[in-house]
Amino acid sequence: MSSYQTDALISEDIDAYLEQHQHKSLLRFITCGSVDDGKSTLIGRLLYDSKMIFEDQLAALEADSKRVGTQGQDIDFALLVDGLAAEREQGITIDVAYRFFTTEKRKFIVADTPGHEQYTRNMVTGASTADLAIILIDARKGVLTQTKRHSYLAHLIGIRNIVLAVNKMDLVDYDVLRYDHIVEDYRCFARDIGIADFTAIPISGFKGDNITTLSPNTPWYTGKTLIEHLENVQLDVTSDRQKPFRLPVQWVNRPNLDFRGFAGQIISGVVGVGDAVRILPSGKTSAVSRIVTLDGDLDMAVAGQSVTICLTDEIDCSRGDVIAASENPPQAADQFESNLVWMAEDAMIPGRAYWLKLATQTVSATIQPPKYQVNVNTMEHLAAKTLDLNAIGVAEITTDRAIVFEPYADNRALGGFILIDKLTNATVAAGMLNFSLRRAQNVHWQAIDISREAHAQQKGQSPKLLWFTGLSGSGKSTIANLVEKKLYALGRHSFLLDGDNVRHGLNKDLGFTDTDRIENIRRVGEVAKLMTDAGLIVLTAFISPFRAERDMVRAMMPVGEFLEIFIDTPLEEAERRDVKGLYKKARSGALKNFTGIDSPYEAPEMPEIHVDTTRMSPEDAAELIVEQVVGIWSPDL
Ligand code: ADX
Repeated sequence: MSSYQTDALISEDIDAYLEQHQHKSLLRFITCGSVDDGKSTLIGRLLYDSKMIFEDQLAALEADSKRVGTQGQDIDFALLVDGLAAEREQGITIDVAYRFFTTEKRKFIVADTPGHEQYTRNMVTGASTADLAIILIDARKGVLTQTKRHSYLAHLIGIRNIVLAVNKMDLVDYDVLRYDHIVEDYRCFARDIGIADFTAIPISGFKGDNITTLSPNTPWYTGKTLIEHLENVQLDVTSDRQKPFRLPVQWVNRPNLDFRGFAGQIISGVVGVGDAVRILPSGKTSAVSRIVTLDGDLDMAVAGQSVTICLTDEIDCSRGDVIAASENPPQAADQFESNLVWMAEDAMIPGRAYWLKLATQTVSATIQPPKYQVNVNTMEHLAAKTLDLNAIGVAEITTDRAIVFEPYADNRALGGFILIDKLTNATVAAGMLNFSLRRAQNVHWQAIDISREAHAQQKGQSPKLLWFTGLSGSGKSTIANLVEKKLYALGRHSFLLDGDNVRHGLNKDLGFTDTDRIENIRRVGEVAKLMTDAGLIVLTAFISPFRAERDMVRAMMPVGEFLEIFIDTPLEEAERRDVKGLYKKARSGALKNFTGIDSPYEAPEMPEIHVDTTRMSPEDAAELIVEQVVGIWSPDL
């Protein structure tokens, strides 16, 4: 059917048109290329040629072309491309713009990635739901690093349909040798990374060659046009339904006492009323009593549908849990090997806790130093201590509790995740879980008969962790010492862990890089936690410069047991005192990474106790701390 016939159908029988439209399949795709490869021109061309420009956009374009005194199809097209480019610039904060167009055969959603084109983040976001990727190459430039990076990512993300669009053929005089050379070059690379097959098409987005009609300029090309290929490429729509049933619970729907349902989108499989299901991670089983939707109850629902499921039993199930086929449930684990694509300016910090979001689950996760980083040009595995912006690597990840997952290769929705910086809330990485590590499953928590309560009770006290933080020379150790003496005098059982001392033993392998400081605090936090399990009041005196790690230790402790004590001495004052002569060394350049000089200190925002040492003597400060602490502990002191 020609587009004129379509237009006639729209005006004569809109219902018939909509009916036809509804049954078209949907292809989601992404275009990848470097800055000048002609991405927006190509998208503009697809929108333009499929006549999916909205009425008002057309009107504006026409008005514009009159205003600037131009006419003709190509000018409208150029204006459309300019319009898209302007829109992208305005939308610089939007990561991905999804553009919709349709032909007689199929509907399309193309993920357009505005701004910051050099960043992989946009591509990864757009690609996560894509069926196909168009890798754009500038025929004048050939296969670039960016082409390789994007192809590798598209493959890693699981896109199996790759189109190599060799663009700007008009600028190389439609030279078949040039085209063949590029395709061959790409074929070698594709083979190396496991892309078994791809479809190459010589095009010009600007001139429209081989977009909707075969171009007379490339008589040597006998394949399909780009649109024809997009219309006919085989889609794997049935495969999600053939996988076992999984529904990550988004929220619990409980409008009244008589109704309790679990709402979410089915990510794979089919579910029917009466089916046996298992709730993960608890492993409890039940059966489906109802499948509720806005349009009424269903007997059966399939992957892609959003439903509310009711169960025959009153069992625990909340946001983040996964309802799954009882016989074939996913696993739950807390240690994994994972592919990571780092997407933030700030490099990855091994040991730091990030939020990990996978399906509807959000947990705290730490990353080990990478096993390796991938050089996308050579596919070599390089040794790496961290991952920088755009780096792709493999690392082990530990979550603070078990999450329900499947390897990414089996299920994108239960194997793909993002990492979020806890302080800035920025998405810093995308990841794909490969497998869980067995060692976690084989180390079981040993139940101990003398509980932490018993330990504390025997000492007649509530355990506490008094976490002193502040610049070097701020007075942490001095004040912590005085506090401990006072507690001792009150008959309390305590122990003081001091930075300078712990760094001579347990942590003598650590220096003062960000990574080492983080590991220093992690170990001290774990030791302090064990000591509170033994019933002690633990005092720690470490600079502990990063909020994230102080918060991590806070999160490890039972609520109310962690007291952050900010020993607030301004840098000028600490430097003036310079008890150990270290500031002088740091200023002279003899000591690197010194806190306050060339290494940051993030002051607490809401410490339980704030001591301003410019207004208070150490003795008074200790008095204040003990008083406050005694106040908090009044039941047992
Ligand atoms: S932390 O940053 O990892 O918490 P920690 O409290 O253990 O540091 O150790 C800080 C002490 O190490 C300082 O009081 C100082 O005596 C000594 N030190 C040596 N080099 C440095 C440095 N580059 N930065 C800060 N402290 C240093």
